[in-house]
Amino acid sequence: MSANQELCSLRWNAERQVVEVIDQTLLPHSLQWCELESLASYCHAISAMQVRGAPLIGITAAFGLAGAIARDPSDENLSRASKALLATRPTAVNLGWALAAVAAAVRDIEPGARARVALAKARQLRAEDIANCSRIGEHGLALLRGLKPDGPLNIMTHCNAGWLATIEWGTALAPVYKAHAAGIPVHVWVSETRPRNQGTYLTAWELQRAGVPCTIVTDNACGQLLRSGAVDCVLVGSDRTAANGDVCNKIGTYLKALAAGANGVPFYALLPASTIDWECAGGDDIPIENRAESEVLAVSGADETGQRRELMLAGSGHRAHNPAFDVTPAALVTALVTEYGSVAASSVGLERLRAQISSSSPM
Ligand code: MRU
Repeated sequence: MSANQELCSLRWNAERQVVEVIDQTLLPHSLQWCELESLASYCHAISAMQVRGAPLIGITAAFGLAGAIARDPSDENLSRASKALLATRPTAVNLGWALAAVAAAVRDIEPGARARVALAKARQLRAEDIANCSRIGEHGLALLRGLKPDGPLNIMTHCNAGWLATIEWGTALAPVYKAHAAGIPVHVWVSETRPRNQGTYLTAWELQRAGVPCTIVTDNACGQLLRSGAVDCVLVGSDRTAANGDVCNKIGTYLKALAAGANGVPFYALLPASTIDWECAGGDDIPIENRAESEVLAVSGADETGQRRELMLAGSGHRAHNPAFDVTPAALVTALVTEYGSVAASSVGLERLRAQISSSSPM
């Protein structure tokens, strides 16, 4: 095990032949695993955000499809289950990518052998995600060393792009864990990430477990921190990156990129190549998920006894608008960091990466 030494976000229980995931809706107050068995339980886990983060959504969907194939390997069921899983969340492109990978693996396989092949594919995608995130961490660490070889480093991140959003390591947090392990002093500014608070609930939780110093700040504090010289670089993940280098990520990412750019602070997006949507010409073509008004109007947490509570923030009768993602134009992104290394966030950079992907394996 890697960054966190003992946990991962999703595991295959071979004895019980079932997938287990950490229920992220209960963090940071309670660490509980839940078993995913039926197609409905997989769809619920993704749409209700028991699992979240683009890479983890993809791997979960792959296991969900493999499970559906095990119950009924027919083409009709494969197509039905794929559609149901694909409809769970619209923005993370890894979802469709992982479903396509499992479907392609079984396409020319006779029905009796499909279950075994589909499960093997899902397990392979999981293993590859771990390896790719570790490579992203190494490439990101090289960038951090270029900024300040021996630290101390103050890094700002948004949402959760740690191991909870992948299987192990994470994307944006992978270099942080690698730097910490290498003895480089590192401190992370964790923006709370309203309205779902993935920064407060998830990122701070996993950094604390790993012993990485971190401080939670309101989303609104980030501009001032960037202006005052308190941040050496911003590291974020991505849910879908367009072929021109535009980066779609959790709502609020764009504002950080603007403030970083205005103050000369490097802004990196770290993502596995599976997060690049080669068919998507630019950020305007990316579907942005709109989530429930209640996420803005209320907040959930734990009371002093540890009991989960939901509290109303707004007065009665208010409406809210809740886009879950935004697009950061490529021009504001210093570089994209994938398992293949760093590339310019531009059509040229991504064309180069595409050529590299088709001619080589990750380095
Ligand atoms: O809505 P979420 O929690 O699924 O959004 C997750 C993010 O925006 C992450 O930053 C992104 O998926 C990158 S994760 C490695």
